[in-house]
Amino acid sequence: MKAILIEKPGDESCMKLGETAPPALTPGSVRIRNVACGVNRADLLQRQGFYPPPAGASPILGLECAGRIAEAAADVTSFRAGERVIALLPGGGYAEESVVDAGSVLRLPDALDFETGAGAIETLLTVFLNVFQLGGLPSGGTVLVHGGGSGIGTTTIDLVKRAGGRVVATVGSDEKARRCRELGADAVANYRSEDWVEVAKQATGGRGVDVVLDSIGGSYLDGNLRALAEDGRLVLIGLMGGAKAELPLGALLSRRLSVIGSTLRTRSPSAKAAIVTAFQARFGADFAAGRIRPVIHRVFPLAEAPEAHRMLKASTHFGKVVLRVRDDER
Ligand SMILES: NC(=O)c1ccc[n+]([C@@H]2O[C@H](COP(=O)([O-])OP(=O)(O)OC[C@H]3O[C@@H](n4cnc5c(N)ncnc54)[C@H](OP(=O)(O)O)[C@@H]3O)[C@@H](O)[C@H]2O)c1
Repeated sequence: MKAILIEKPGDESCMKLGETAPPALTPGSVRIRNVACGVNRADLLQRQGFYPPPAGASPILGLECAGRIAEAAADVTSFRAGERVIALLPGGGYAEESVVDAGSVLRLPDALDFETGAGAIETLLTVFLNVFQLGGLPSGGTVLVHGGGSGIGTTTIDLVKRAGGRVVATVGSDEKARRCRELGADAVANYRSEDWVEVAKQATGGRGVDVVLDSIGGSYLDGNLRALAEDGRLVLIGLMGGAKAELPLGALLSRRLSVIGSTLRTRSPSAKAAIVTAFQARFGADFAAGRIRPVIHRVFPLAEAPEAHRMLKASTHFGKVVLRVRDDER
């Protein structure tokens, strides 16, 4: 099969379209004939050698795909060959075929084409897990999300507004701020010109937010804790702003704050299946009807993976970037 291969980790040019053996079908898994795959920030780190795949996962980049079931293992009864699906992958999306545990697969709603579906599942499950399950967002509660124009940010706005919550987003440009408001964000701060802690406080009548979904880390720790309401939860999912900071324990103690670290990729197949089931129970009807859908910024052919990575690195995108793996299916 064709796939994006990396001989030696490095800059964007280390990714080359090549031929490799398709992955073997294992018990409990399905083989997906990929039509498109999503590009995620984590792919940039893995390409550079900083984010190795979990043990047993494909070394090929790619954490999500959309396509058709090619075959299912004998013990899988939930999917049949030919069905349109999307899947959360521990790796292996930038390829013509992926093999994944059946519990990480969802039917692709009729309302979504393959390219849109390919950009959906990684951010939907990440936001669901971290804002609703670990963050415990109360009904009508407020989330502060950094990188409002990212895949994660746009999905947070979509999902939280659908659930009746409120969203404060931070972004690096006025154009992204406008787009976030258009998507439904209740307040947006351009972190280059505004004090986002103040914006979060104002948006909540001085109370602070219930959950912070943070992909920045070190440089934002102090502000994140100040932006939280009493009993608030900071859920850390990325370290774009550094891995070290001083934790003011007094604030944690006196305001009963929680700091939670979380990754989706390293969880076991059964843990991922449980997240998928819980997501379906809460948002499945909205997703199936196309009321929840990712914002797709641009679709590149698979061979142009280097261009897609350059776009993410420059942060000129709004929403998701997707790679089209094959052209014989729309
Ligand atoms: N732990 C998990 O399970 C998990 C799962 C999925 C994603 N993540 C993490 O979530 C984050 C977002 O992922 P993604 O794929 O949605 O990313 P993405 O689309 O590439 O977007 C990242 C955004 O972050 C903003 N940004 C970058 N550096 C920044 C900084 N130093 N300060 C403030 N904003 C900054 C940029 O927007 P501006 O132009 O506005 O600066 C950029 O658009 C990444 O850190 C990723 O690793 C974690």
